[in-house]
Amino acid sequence: EGMTLQQGIKGIELINDDGNCLEVVVGAGESWHDWVLHAVERGWNGVENLALIPGSVGASPMQNIGAYGVEVKDHFLWLEAVNRKTGELQRFDHAACEFGYRESIFKQRERNLWVIVRVAFALERNAPLHMEYGAIQSELHHLAPQEITHKDVSEAVMRIRRSKLPDPAELGNAGSFFKNPILHATAFQEVLSNHPNVVHYPLEDGSFKLAAGWLIEQAGWKGKRRGNCGVHDKQALVLVNYGEATGQEIWKLAKDIIQDVRAKFGVELQPEVNQIRVS
Ligand code: EPU
Repeated sequence: EGMTLQQGIKGIELINDDGNCLEVVVGAGESWHDWVLHAVERGWNGVENLALIPGSVGASPMQNIGAYGVEVKDHFLWLEAVNRKTGELQRFDHAACEFGYRESIFKQRERNLWVIVRVAFALERNAPLHMEYGAIQSELHHLAPQEITHKDVSEAVMRIRRSKLPDPAELGNAGSFFKNPILHATAFQEVLSNHPNVVHYPLEDGSFKLAAGWLIEQAGWKGKRRGNCGVHDKQALVLVNYGEATGQEIWKLAKDIIQDVRAKFGVELQPEVNQIRVS
């Protein structure tokens, strides 16, 4: 129901190159993954850990997409967006985007006001490799560390993603439906004392990020199907649409999961996915 417009602005333009550091401007309608492949093929490095994320380049700063230790904000320079009320084109630098974990001004404070049309990225020929994630290290363990290239990392990421995340072209999904919850130290200690195995990551500011996928799996939802929708059997953070499930059915499932995780762990899950209400 309702009208959907799909952004089709294309183009990839290298506008600055000092031999190492590059500034590349990309049309918002380019496929994110095709842009990553384009960059990796040319040795424009930095976004290789973000391979195979579905969606467009214009959507990438909207919720500061991230995976395997890298977020769009780490390589973001500026973007241009059209104000839907005035029709004016405005440039946003890094600070103006108010990036956070899967957040930006475009998803929160100024939601629905802007249409992003171009995004500029800072890449490097000699960018460091990001291999902190154990899954990437195990994928590449057969290679000597000095041999590993950015392309190897992007291929490892693609293999890992294909092994647990459903392809939206085959099985409807929106990636992680929930964000990994962040708890202050005291709230975290309480969860830990009741659930010593809770998967968690300490953050620099003293708070802790919990693995929502673990919470949902432990609550018994992983692989559960309800009518035309369900929880993916290989990654409990992903809700899937097996056919014609409506938005209401998906949202009902999400709400039941939120309620159950709250009851079992005292932790509040927040959706990562935007909900659009059509009147
Ligand atoms: N886990 C489970 N059961 C599950 C899923 C996860 O126990 O069903 C536990 C495991 O212990 C695992 C840990 O959770 O070690 C983390 O799982 P994973 O590495 O799959 O990552 P994630 O935290 O579930 C996040 C992002 C993904 C991103 C991956 C890799 C969020 C909400 N999700 O998932 O991003 O690809 O890390 O960096 O932050 C997305 O945002 O749409 C997305 C797919």
